[in-house]
Amino acid sequence: MTLSELRFKDFRNLEEGVYYPGPGVNVIFGENAQGKTNLLEAIWLFSGMKSFRGAKDQELIGFEKPFARLKAAYQNNVRENKAQLTVAEKKTAVLNGVKLSGATGFLGKFSAVVFAPSFLSIVKSGPEERRRFLDASVCQLKPAYAAVVTEFSRLLRQRNALLKDAQFESSLLDMLDVLDERLAVVGDKVTEERKKYLENLTPKVEEIYAGLSGGREEIGFCYLSKSRDSGGFKDLLRQNRREDLLSKTTTGGPHRDDLEIVINGRSARVYGSQGQQRSAALALKFGESEVLLDETGEMPVVLLDDVMSELDAVRQDFILNHIEGRQVFITCCDPDTVGRLSGGTKTEIKNGRILPCT
Ligand SMILES: Nc1ncnc2c1ncn2[C@@H]1O[C@H](COP(=O)(O)OP(=O)(O)OP(=O)(O)O)[C@@H](O)[C@H]1O
Ligand SMILES: [Mg+2]
Repeated sequence: MTLSELRFKDFRNLEEGVYYPGPGVNVIFGENAQGKTNLLEAIWLFSGMKSFRGAKDQELIGFEKPFARLKAAYQNNVRENKAQLTVAEKKTAVLNGVKLSGATGFLGKFSAVVFAPSFLSIVKSGPEERRRFLDASVCQLKPAYAAVVTEFSRLLRQRNALLKDAQFESSLLDMLDVLDERLAVVGDKVTEERKKYLENLTPKVEEIYAGLSGGREEIGFCYLSKSRDSGGFKDLLRQNRREDLLSKTTTGGPHRDDLEIVINGRSARVYGSQGQQRSAALALKFGESEVLLDETGEMPVVLLDDVMSELDAVRQDFILNHIEGRQVFITCCDPDTVGRLSGGTKTEIKNGRILPCT
């Protein structure tokens, strides 16, 4: 997947202009609040996903402007594509002259992965973020998995409601048996899909992380699951029944699993330095792009917003000069970082304008 041209009009502070990236690493630099993240966001929207900043459509349109328009030219394995996205009351999308049913029509047509600073919470925060990452990654590859996750949450809510009511009506315990049968099947499917994804992801992340750390550190993952320890979710539900009735909630299962990220044998969340945590999150994103390549045959473009801060020169050099086989976009403020790029393109953004190359 290679973006060759992006035209914008009244997209946030990007008033009117055109950006021509190269096929390798593209650094977008400038001072704060000039439009760097806006440019990445513009590229990202062609993936058919929502803004990675969680923005509403209206917020994407330049202040006091009637609509925003983006036009992209990109090459995939099949052909050269022309895509257009207009944001007005709602989003409308056209691909190669054919009108799509909304921006989600781009899903699977242009693929991208994005690292926004908020993604660091994958390492720093509690297990929920990591479960969500695994589930979202599986969904991206297997859209049918979304229904599994939805059914799992629904059954879990029903079970927790039953656990609350069972203290008043013991006949509900029979219903609990029936519910547990189904919940166990769906829950095991969730665990299985997450673990399968993780098996594909791990070797990719290990390799990138080794490169990033100059071969000095090793990353690893451990999927922590009580269901597995007790021989399946069904057995766990049975073992926990008394405790669950007392606490009126389902105390163990895929909704409580965690993905431990380990650097040199120790938890990255607990012991990792800022740079290590950032490197781990970054390696996960690159790994995600490689799994997508394996599964879809297309390498997504990689969008990296503000990744360079906290990384030492060795790690910056690896990202800028040693990652091959994909198109990467990196925003940064620091001119020293820009100076480290040996190939690729450098683009300065000032006040929403792409400045001529110097
Ligand atoms: N709908 C909009 N219309 C006009 N300007 C907007 C709109 N939305 C955001 N902006 C402005 O765009 C400017 C650039 O934002 P952006 O997030 O791209 O900055 P940046 O270059 O990434 O800066 P930083 O280095 O601080 O991350 C901000 O000043 C912001 O207020
Ligand atoms: Mg920014």
